[in-house]
Amino acid sequence: MQVGIDKIGLFTPNKYVDMVDLAHARNQDPNKFLIGIGQSEMSVADQTQDAVSMGINATMKYIDRIDKDKVGLLVFGTESGIDQSKSASLFVKTALKLKPEVRTFEVKEACFGLTAALMIARDFVRVHPHQTAIVIGSDIARYGINTPGEVTQGAGSISMLIKTDPSILALNDGHSAYSEDINDFWRPNDSRVAMVDGKYSTQVYLDFFTKTFNDYKKEKNLATKDFDALIYHLPFTKMGLKANRIAVEDQDEKTTEKLQNSFEASKQLSRHVGNIYTASLYMSLLSLLEKGNLPAGSLVGLFSYGSGAMGEFYSGNLVPGYEKEINPVADQAMLDRRQKLTIAEYEDVFNTALKDPVDGKELTSDDAAGTWYFAGTQGHIRQYKQK
Ligand code: COA
Repeated sequence: MQVGIDKIGLFTPNKYVDMVDLAHARNQDPNKFLIGIGQSEMSVADQTQDAVSMGINATMKYIDRIDKDKVGLLVFGTESGIDQSKSASLFVKTALKLKPEVRTFEVKEACFGLTAALMIARDFVRVHPHQTAIVIGSDIARYGINTPGEVTQGAGSISMLIKTDPSILALNDGHSAYSEDINDFWRPNDSRVAMVDGKYSTQVYLDFFTKTFNDYKKEKNLATKDFDALIYHLPFTKMGLKANRIAVEDQDEKTTEKLQNSFEASKQLSRHVGNIYTASLYMSLLSLLEKGNLPAGSLVGLFSYGSGAMGEFYSGNLVPGYEKEINPVADQAMLDRRQKLTIAEYEDVFNTALKDPVDGKELTSDDAAGTWYFAGTQGHIRQYKQK
C-alpha cells in the first residue's frame, strides 16, 4: 500500500521587502544578499496574519477538492505558536469545518515540525487506510531589525493532504534520523524574535545532512546517482546550495548537472518568499514540482532539519499525473499580488506585528476577498475571520 502526499497548498502574506532595498538600508553590498545569502525578496506578515490564519489559507487551496469526512487527523507544526496550551490546529479545524471526530494537535521541534507531522500522518494512514490526514507547517521567521538574520526572514504556510494512493509523492519506507541537544537557534518564552548562532547553525546543518544522507544511502543500498532530485530545508537558499555541493562532490558530470538543475528548480519559491521555518522544505518540494519538469517515477530525496537539533533524510517517488495537482500560475499570481514595502514601512509593520493587539479592538485585513485573517482578541480569545 502506497501512502504519501496527495494535495499541497502554499500561502504567503500580501507584503514583501526587496533585498536590494534592504541591502541599501543596511549599508551592505546587494550581492551579499542576492548571491552570498541567495535571497531576492521576503514576505512580511502584518498583524493580521499569524500561524493559524496562514495555515487555514494554505489548506483553502485544496479543501474544495477533498472529501472532508475522510479526514481523521490534523497535525499542525509550528515554532510561531499563538498559545502555550491550545493547539493552533483547533482554530484551523473550525475554520475548515472538519468533523468533530478528527484527532488534532500541534507538534514542535523547530523547522522539523512539519516533517514530524508528516511522519505521524503517514503512520496514521497506514493503520487507517480509509482515512486521510492534513498536515500543516506555518511560520513567521523573525530575527529582528538590523540583525545578521534579518535577510533570512519570511512568512508563509504549506498544507498537505496525506492519503493512500497519493497523487503527488509516494513516500518510501525507511528514513535516517539524527539528533543532538545543541543551541544553534532557539526562541525563549520571553522573546518574540529568534536567537541564532548563524555560523554554528550552518555547520551543524551540513554535518547532519552529510550523516543522514550517507546513512540513508547505506540502509537503502542507494547511490547518489540514483536520486533525480535532492531537496532541502531552506532557511536561505545558500544553505541548500552548500548541502547540494557536498552531495555532488566526487559525482560524474551527468549526476552533478542533474542534481544542480533540480536544486535550482527547488529553490525558486524560497528565494522570493524567504524562510518559512517548518514549511520551508515542503515549499522546496512545491517549487521542484512546479519548475523541475521531472518525469513521473523520479526519486526525490528530502532533507529536513530543525535546530536544537534534529535532522532526517527520507525519499519519495513522483506519481504519474502529479502535474495536475499543482497550479504554478495561481502560485505566481499569489506572489505577484504582494505589495512592495519601503524599508520604513516594513519596519513599522514588523514592530506593530510584534505587539499583541489591544483586547477587544478588532483588526481588519487589507488582503484579497476570501483570505482568512487574525481579527484580534475578544476576552483574550483569538478571533479568525474570512474577508
Ligand atoms: N557578493 C557575494 N557574496 C558575498 C558578498 C558579496 N558582495 N559579501 C559577502 N558575501 C558572502 C560571504 O562570502 C558568505 O558566503 P559563504 O557563506 O559562502 O561563506 C555569505 O555572503 C554570507 O556572508 P557572512 O559574512 O557570513 O554573513 P553574515 O555574518 O551576515 O551572516 C548568516 C549570514 C546566514 C549566518 C545570518 O544571516 C544568519 O544567522 N541567518 C540565520 C540562519 C538560520 O536561520 N539558522 C537556523 C536555521 S537552520
